[in-house]
Amino acid sequence: MKLPGADTVVFSGLKAHEAFFRQPDEVLSQKEVYQFMVPIFGKGIAYDTTPELMKEQMAFLHPGLREARLRTYAELFVEEAEAFFDRWDNEGVVDLYDIGNELTIYTSSRALLGGDFRKHLSGEFARLYQELEGGLTLWSFLNPYLPIPAHRRRDKARVKMGEMIKRIVDERRREGRQESDILQTLLEAKYSDGRALSDDEIVGILLTVMFAGHHTSGVTFCWNTILMNQHPAYFARVMEEQKAVLGDRTTLKVEDLRAMTLLERSVKETLRMYPAIIMLMRRVLKDFSYEQYEVKAGQMALCSPAASHHIETIFKDPWKYDPDRYGPGREEDRQHPLAFIAFGGGKHRCLGAVFATLQLVATSSVLARHFELELLEPRYYPDYKRILVGPHQPCRARYRRKKRPLVQVPLTSPLDAAPIQAAG
Ligand code: HEM
Repeated sequence: MKLPGADTVVFSGLKAHEAFFRQPDEVLSQKEVYQFMVPIFGKGIAYDTTPELMKEQMAFLHPGLREARLRTYAELFVEEAEAFFDRWDNEGVVDLYDIGNELTIYTSSRALLGGDFRKHLSGEFARLYQELEGGLTLWSFLNPYLPIPAHRRRDKARVKMGEMIKRIVDERRREGRQESDILQTLLEAKYSDGRALSDDEIVGILLTVMFAGHHTSGVTFCWNTILMNQHPAYFARVMEEQKAVLGDRTTLKVEDLRAMTLLERSVKETLRMYPAIIMLMRRVLKDFSYEQYEVKAGQMALCSPAASHHIETIFKDPWKYDPDRYGPGREEDRQHPLAFIAFGGGKHRCLGAVFATLQLVATSSVLARHFELELLEPRYYPDYKRILVGPHQPCRARYRRKKRPLVQVPLTSPLDAAPIQAAG
């Protein structure tokens, strides 16, 4: 393909995915392509460092994303989602794109950066975060330092956000509290030469992980809500499953989320049909050959989850929403480790894949149990103008709150003795 800036070699199909994802960084490099993220993540972080150092920085995140931590996060996801939807009226119209992004910033930041950070997630922080994101324009691809207003706002916001996060880091250090979040993991981490992370590095890695998991999960939440509501027969089975797993319980643990297999398959199908990252790009640093093709240094290499997920020899009837394709006996995603690539593959595969899936199951379960939705747009389609592709806005739905569950009020007087229907 001819793309502005360089000839681009597209790798599509299972064998081609292997050729793309299994090349070392010295041959296919992310660093040159993702330079537009450097002003956001910060100097010396991720794509502004050597592949070896970036590998160490990414490895710092592993303890914060391992199984034991996910147990705590699952409960936080549900708590945040319950609080978020509790603030809704009994009926109204929302834009699902905005809802997905707003909800995800609460759930992710609570789990990744801790309760103290979440407390500071004030209007000011949300505004700064938006300005930081607004600095990701098509121009940033070409030159992330071009003196345009969006970049100037981005840089000012980055300085202020850095200061806000640093205050929280200082507070945590002073008080010596131990928490179960990524911030704690970073405070305890050391590079292989024994050096601890500087405050700037902690801020940069926190922003990296927040950015990696924000819009990606936000748009997936939005698409999954749309797709489930567009397919009432499958959605009815999801709701049956909710009842079977939870009964009348409203508190929910990681085991419950894991038992919601039909909901999880819908999330997976959403990611297959509408992966948030539609293209993964690399700069070719050294010549290499793939089958009869010669790939040359200086070219770009591209692998597109959106295109590859629609190859019908891999996924049967690929344009159809069919979450059962992941069920027993079919398992179309398992035929090859690089068939399903919404989370990338190989050494740079997404570190937050399990975290994101759990978060999406948790938030989608809370929404589906509390509200009925009616989709208001004549059609919902991808907005390819965005770097992270979500549904085109407006993307509205009308919601109506279902009856709140019966709540047992503590026995304080005979009048309170009977179970009552909570307000609304
Ligand atoms: C539905 C949500 C998500 C999707 C679709 C997604 C997708 C991806 C993809 C495709 C890549 C590979 C990029 C490439 O090869 O160029 C990636 C990398 C990454 N993701 Fe995610 N992601 C999601 C959520 C998350 C979350 C929640 C986190 C953090 C908790 C996260 C952290 C990361 C990190 C740190 C990397 C870089 C890994 C490396 O280069 O070693 N992601 N993600």
